[in-house]
Amino acid sequence: TGAVTLDPGFKNTGACKSEITFLDGEKGILRYRGYTIEDLAEKSSFLEVSYLLIFGELPAAAVLEKFENDIKKYTLVNEEMKNIIDGFPKTAHPMGVLASLTSALTAFNPQPVDVNDEEELYDTVCKTMAKFLVIATWTYRKKMGYPLNYYDNTKGHVENFLRLMFELPTGPYKIDPVIVNALDKLFILHADHEQNCSASTVRIVGSSHAGLFASISAGVSALWGPLHGGANQAVLEMLEEIQANGGDADKYLAKAKDKEDPFRLMGFGHRVYKNFDPRAKIIKKAADDVLEALGVNDPILNIAKKLEEAALKDEYFKSRNLYPNVDFYSGIIYRAMGIPTEMFTVLFAIGRLPGWIAQWKEMRLNKEPIGRPRQIYTGSPLRDFVPVDKR
Ligand code: CMC
Repeated sequence: TGAVTLDPGFKNTGACKSEITFLDGEKGILRYRGYTIEDLAEKSSFLEVSYLLIFGELPAAAVLEKFENDIKKYTLVNEEMKNIIDGFPKTAHPMGVLASLTSALTAFNPQPVDVNDEEELYDTVCKTMAKFLVIATWTYRKKMGYPLNYYDNTKGHVENFLRLMFELPTGPYKIDPVIVNALDKLFILHADHEQNCSASTVRIVGSSHAGLFASISAGVSALWGPLHGGANQAVLEMLEEIQANGGDADKYLAKAKDKEDPFRLMGFGHRVYKNFDPRAKIIKKAADDVLEALGVNDPILNIAKKLEEAALKDEYFKSRNLYPNVDFYSGIIYRAMGIPTEMFTVLFAIGRLPGWIAQWKEMRLNKEPIGRPRQIYTGSPLRDFVPVDKR
């Protein structure tokens, strides 16, 4: 069968050609469909960026309006989904619930989408964007024991996220435009990142022609891990631990450098960015803005700044090109917004959804073959079977 090249973690293996996201890790460049992340974060909106990623072009005003309205056609979620949520204990991690609910959507939408039928594909995209946001927020409502909320079609997508999460039957939730703006930016910054672990997962699951919901559910599971999207939760837990232990950042820096200690500085390092993470720069600034606007003086932010400063001067981190990544500051913003730590990765998933859809769509339209890596076998050579009474 020919020689197999070994590349654990696919560090040097390209798995596809892609037109979606350009990333230069040396120079710290990230562009969606040719537009810089800095421009998009400042001038665009999450739904506009979603359209851009999925369909390839910035939408004209009428097209964007239609996209927003078409998403609203699908914002009701089947009542039977509630039975599935009811089955989970309150202690369930929201990412586990989200993966299950996303997969369960298949039960209510069993027809496989015909990717060559443009209209059907477009409807499926709108349906996924609508229902995923609602069920993502339901994972929080479940945890809190709150009644589930419904999307309000008179309001925008990001406003709806906040309402779905926080509005209680006792009174309307006051939407703060500073928070909407910061969330919109955060969702844009998380929207795609070329062939990362979860996007590759979505592509590989989808390459067997499993459905879109099943593929996205797999992406949610991949994102959950602390080395990927789960890092935003891990960062905050780390900062809280440092604070609880007297705020000694240097001690944790030493632990991260100790090769005998499995501890890593969460929110530091990246597989591809070896100079800086352009998303982290924008988020750091957004964190300062949000905290100032909300009048929050969070001591955890000071610990984060101390830790970052110390790490950036440290030879261990410098020589390995380890810099703060997107997740180092996002958790601080989420915390200031009153979002519980366990929900952080769900927010990453909401932001990443259009990227997953775009990657899945491109893979199917390019008629990519089923993903099936090879291996180098290192197990036992041929041996004779030994009956159980002779072992
Ligand atoms: N703290 C301490 N040492 C580190 C860290 C860290 N956060 N990250 C990498 N290293 C060291 C690692 O021990 C290794 O050292 P040596 O060469 O002496 O063995 C060297 O740096 C290279 O690391 P690696 O594990 O080979 O690099 P990788 O490309 O496989 O891993 C990473 C990248 C992001 C998984 C890793 O940097 C990490 O675990 N970071 C912490 C978790 C984190 O913040 N993840 C979020 C990534 S950004 C959001 C996303 O896109 O999901």
